[in-house]
Amino acid sequence: MSGEWRTDPDDWEAQDDHPVLRSSEGHWLSLTRRSVLKGGLGLAAVFVGGCAVTGGARPRIGFTPLPAQTDPGFDAVRVPAGYRAVPFYSWGDPIDAEAPRWRADAGNDWRDQLRQAGDNHDGMHYFPFADNPNGHGLLVINHEKVATDFLHPRGATVLHDEQGRPRRPDEEVNKELAAHGVSVIEIAKDRDGQWRRIMTSSYNRRISGLTPMILSGPAAGAEAMRTASDPTGRRVIGTFANCALGYTPWGTYLACEENWPNYFVNRDAEDYRRRPQQARYRLSQGERSNYYLWETAQSRFDATPDRSLPHQGEVNEPNRFGWVVEIDPFDPDSTPVKRTAMGRLVRECATPSLADDGRMAFYFGDDTRGEYIYKFVPRDRYRADDPAANRELLDHGTLYVAVFHDDGRGEWRPLRHGQGPLNAANGFPDQAAVLINARGAADLLGATRMDRPEWVAVRPGSREVYVTLTNNDERGVDDGQPVNAANPRPRNLHGQILRWRERDNDPAATVFDWELFLLAGYPAGGEAPAHQWGTIQGDVFSSPDGLWFDPAGRLWIETDYDDESPDHQAMGTNQLLCADPDSGEVRRFLVGPRGCEITGITGTPDGRTLWVNVQHPGISYPASDGHTRPRSTTVLITRDDGGEIGT
Ligand code: FEO
Ligand code: CA
Ligand code: CA
Repeated sequence: MSGEWRTDPDDWEAQDDHPVLRSSEGHWLSLTRRSVLKGGLGLAAVFVGGCAVTGGARPRIGFTPLPAQTDPGFDAVRVPAGYRAVPFYSWGDPIDAEAPRWRADAGNDWRDQLRQAGDNHDGMHYFPFADNPNGHGLLVINHEKVATDFLHPRGATVLHDEQGRPRRPDEEVNKELAAHGVSVIEIAKDRDGQWRRIMTSSYNRRISGLTPMILSGPAAGAEAMRTASDPTGRRVIGTFANCALGYTPWGTYLACEENWPNYFVNRDAEDYRRRPQQARYRLSQGERSNYYLWETAQSRFDATPDRSLPHQGEVNEPNRFGWVVEIDPFDPDSTPVKRTAMGRLVRECATPSLADDGRMAFYFGDDTRGEYIYKFVPRDRYRADDPAANRELLDHGTLYVAVFHDDGRGEWRPLRHGQGPLNAANGFPDQAAVLINARGAADLLGATRMDRPEWVAVRPGSREVYVTLTNNDERGVDDGQPVNAANPRPRNLHGQILRWRERDNDPAATVFDWELFLLAGYPAGGEAPAHQWGTIQGDVFSSPDGLWFDPAGRLWIETDYDDESPDHQAMGTNQLLCADPDSGEVRRFLVGPRGCEITGITGTPDGRTLWVNVQHPGISYPASDGHTRPRSTTVLITRDDGGEIGT
């Protein structure tokens, strides 16, 4: 018997920091909102954030900004006069010349989906080839989640057994796993200067929730990483919830695992209480997982202990998610590696910063209300002349968590076993325990609870670090999250962007100075209630999420808010804005179709090509015909005169 999968939207909201919409049929709930430089030689030349510290040249911003797009039926992407935005890579597009074509009725099965573009495009990065960096490269794209309404012909199916227990069909679950993960596509400009995909490329590759991976670093092999399916604790199937990203100067891509706690369930309430990190990461507890009920089809998503099995079955499977996944896009046969030294978070991003002498940091947001900002400093320096040494750079180093003092000073406190409170008496018998429960360790270090840290961006030249704090309606409401200088607004609906400078511009510094760059929201003194007033100099927006510096130092801001909520009506649909980091001026560059989030941004080193993702459009984009099912899409943006974007 098939049945409706109904649940209270407020429950979902509580489990997920993404808004959830009801589909147009009102039937199902789902997450619809939503040469190669092998070895890295040559890539450092275009490594944003790795330039000499000059203070950062003042970027020029020259386009005429767009008005907010408030039309409830808007189903397109709009950019300023003189620019062009075209769909480039949509959910279901074949990964190569041999792969099956997308079927408009969503009739492709899971094996087809494994060879087609995944769903819900998110973070991405362009890796140029050294011999033609502005005309030939690999585009690597995350697929964060699935819109079950559209992925399947008639939305998600939930069957019920004789006891009334729900069960998802295996075929659908496999299709959902196959639609998560990462795409690698080779692209080049043709003779007419138009970007094309190279369909016959051997680099074209899908990585998904079904791809075998390796666990490395201090937590690999630990008892808490072992399961009945993998008694070694060193092998894991798949990555999913890949939200934002990072990349390395040696030419690898870092896919980050964000909302994984919603994909598992521990149905044993007493056992759940005995495992502090399960509650700390808000793993689903109760009858089912918060998202897709995969545990009803595949037992590894059921983290309820089975004491008759080695390692109590799959209770440790969630410990194998939440990591940085390093992928070598230039080696299509490579196995992705989860780097446990970087800690386990509900990780938004892994943004690199590189000093001239090879010292590095990778910055992470942990995107949940009241969570922390972290960085990882590799023990060893990056060496452009020794590609082999860089391969294991992410397995050794120190994870730090940030403290933001109200006077503008900041501190990085190390998550190091045996130092301070991180000892066995407090539940941290070794470094593996610290990394697996990084949140719990950070609690003991007195880290500052932030307003949902999302993307981090490092300014070329100065190495100043910017972070989006997207919103937090619990700020000043929840006793544990009082208003403070870095998170200054109670019931923070619109978010803020904060920036800091490391001592001596050293990515490895343990102290920094910070300030707010802007508070998003409506103009002060206007009609909106006072707690929604911001400090934007220019075009209004809410909930900054994606954040990126172009090579010239313009700051690009992408938004993720519910464009149907009354608090956001006047802001219109989600958008991409361009900011001058010196003057603070903000101009609206792109507006997206109704229902989408704008996320993911990357470009060529010459600044003349930009790619942006439209995630979970709500109506029929990119067909924009009012009836074709909507598809998450990478959009290609160029200027009609071939010039630099934003100037
Ligand atoms: Fe997937 Fe925090 O955005
Ligand atoms: Ca995001
Ligand atoms: Ca978001």
